[in-house]
Amino acid sequence: TTETLIRGRLLSFNRAPEHAGDRESYLYEEDGALLVRDGRIAAVGAYADVKPKAGADTTEIDHRPHLILPGLIDCHVHFPQMQVIASYAANLLEWLNTYTFPEECRFVESAHAERIATQFFDEFLRQGTTTAVAYCSVHKASADAFFAESLKRGTLMIGGKVMMDRNAPQGLLDTPQLGYDETRAVIEQWHGKGRNHVAITPRFAITSTPEQMAMTQKLAEEFPDLHIQTHLSENHDEIRYTCELYPDATDYTDIYARYGLLRKKALFGHAIHLSDREADAMAESGAVAVHCPTSNLFLGSGLFPLKAIQRREKPVTVAVATDIGGGSSYSMLKTMDEAYKIQQLLGERMNPLESFYHMTLGNAVALDLADRIGTLNEGTDADIVVLNAAATPAMRLRMETVTSLSEELFLLQTMGDDRAVVETYVAGKASKPAN
Ligand code: GUN
Ligand code: FE
Repeated sequence: TTETLIRGRLLSFNRAPEHAGDRESYLYEEDGALLVRDGRIAAVGAYADVKPKAGADTTEIDHRPHLILPGLIDCHVHFPQMQVIASYAANLLEWLNTYTFPEECRFVESAHAERIATQFFDEFLRQGTTTAVAYCSVHKASADAFFAESLKRGTLMIGGKVMMDRNAPQGLLDTPQLGYDETRAVIEQWHGKGRNHVAITPRFAITSTPEQMAMTQKLAEEFPDLHIQTHLSENHDEIRYTCELYPDATDYTDIYARYGLLRKKALFGHAIHLSDREADAMAESGAVAVHCPTSNLFLGSGLFPLKAIQRREKPVTVAVATDIGGGSSYSMLKTMDEAYKIQQLLGERMNPLESFYHMTLGNAVALDLADRIGTLNEGTDADIVVLNAAATPAMRLRMETVTSLSEELFLLQTMGDDRAVVETYVAGKASKPAN
């Protein structure tokens, strides 16, 4: 056994905060400690209580006065789009056709996919993100590179080989049968290997024929416990074109419902412009809307009504994500900063507790993985991030006037990025790469 005692100011949620002062929704331990044994959290609490449980030769790491939180979770990101970030396009479809599809074609080469996979994991761990839900490219080699790197790092990652068989360059197309066969091969090779999870990944209805959607349904039926990920209702032109391609469907959401993809553990990226009927269908099925604020602003896609959708009689489960490379930052702190500003524009408030809940337990609940990640609870995986709200001169100056935890979190969200990440632990192992 290897044991580490990690000391600092612990913050971990046990449910969604109901209001800005909801002290019952989280654990906060000013002088706290985590005892990490064999990659799991063996004990959590006040330092004085946890310390006696540690062995004599246990390594002790003192992170005071920094905050110790569960590793951050990113519920929607594109692994082959690291070199697409900051591409200048007017809207989603132009961005996809001009930059994104050509770039993804390069992932036919294993060597390229492996190089980017190394960079991908370095960057996510640099940002304190320990779990991501990733689209690979259409090429099985890209999924192999992604999962091999994850296995090496010991991370809990969810990924999928993208299925797409129309409306994209030849080099990015599979077929209904090939998409099915290769997805099955990826599942057999990687699902449950280390901490890897495979997701069934039809890109979106525009790039899948009805025949491919039917194969996706077959996969979803054969593997009812797997995650599903796709895109939904991101942009008005996209919605119009999608509905033209599936004239029998009631609306965009109904296309996925007809193929059995609306269910628990199904993650729908964006879902910005849903009708009431669509939001009801999402809510009733337990499917998840994944809010990608930096992407929605960057591509001009729209303002996701996060608070409104949670306030509905039938609330939709919401996760949050970067959507790299449509998104413009790898940082979940920056992501929630932009999410906050979107709610401001919609006349809504989102308090800092909610933001930090979303980045951790909220996303873990959306993934149905809260028993493993997203908290500092005993018995869960020791994926941990250490944050410093005084990481830069300007942050340090502002910290002088901060008088509460909530203000400190808000400062971290508003001014923080990878510079605020002191350390990232993956299964108990310090894993933050140098800058
Ligand atoms: N819709 C289909 N593919 C994509 C993608 O790669 N990024 C975004 N933002 N939307 C999509
Ligand atoms: Fe996306």
